[in-house]
Amino acid sequence: MLHRLTLGLLLFTLLCAPAHAAEKYVAAADCYWPPMELMDANKQPTGYSPDYLKALAKAVGIEIEVRNVAWDGILGGVATGKYDIVASSVTITEERKKQFDFSDPYYEVVQAVLLPAGKKITSLKDLKGLKVGGQIATTGIFVVRNANVGADLKEYDDVGLAIEDLLQGRLDAVVCDDPVALYYVNKKTDTAGKLNISFKTQEKEYYGFVVKKGRKDLLEKLNKGIKILKESGVERQIAEKWMGSSK
Ligand code: ARG
Repeated sequence: MLHRLTLGLLLFTLLCAPAHAAEKYVAAADCYWPPMELMDANKQPTGYSPDYLKALAKAVGIEIEVRNVAWDGILGGVATGKYDIVASSVTITEERKKQFDFSDPYYEVVQAVLLPAGKKITSLKDLKGLKVGGQIATTGIFVVRNANVGADLKEYDDVGLAIEDLLQGRLDAVVCDDPVALYYVNKKTDTAGKLNISFKTQEKEYYGFVVKKGRKDLLEKLNKGIKILKESGVERQIAEKWMGSSK
């Protein structure tokens, strides 16, 4: 009798569980932007953004799965509904806001110019006539292009390939978000010590999570989560884990 009751209860719980299951969302990240988004040894997304989303999801009672997606075209996929969120260190810009909705800002960066160790520039003007690489359609490329200093810009699918070309002498400089530049200068074993950050821009940029225009419900959850992570100090812990205490 007792046995039957237990079994009944178990079945009841199992059948009813899906009704209470957390809502599930898929986020896309280009996992070649360390330490913000990268692949772990098992080829799973890791880094600041995946950790951030995991903590955020927990804070607001949803589930978020992070998938690796190439940067070029990543924003388009959110518009066509391939995934719900782009969590790929996307800088909030007026241009992008015309096409997509952004969450509240969750991280602040500037652009950094990487040069081979020992080389120096003092302003963007010094890039005149130099071969400058960066990831295609990123704010780093936009900043150098808009500065109009006569740099010879080369756009790469992946910032790692640009840095490889810099180390091989095929480029003079690479421009990218400052935490990424710092990672290549200090942490990535095959590049550490071979590069230096010679210049940083003054203008601050802010990362936001990207959703399809009009997804108010999801935006509200993301913003609620961001607020909780900021106020609880969890955001700070995740930053310390991935960037060290420098931020
Ligand atoms: N913050 C820059 C931008 O929005 C670069 C982001 C690149 N992110 C990446 N995971 N590759 O343009």
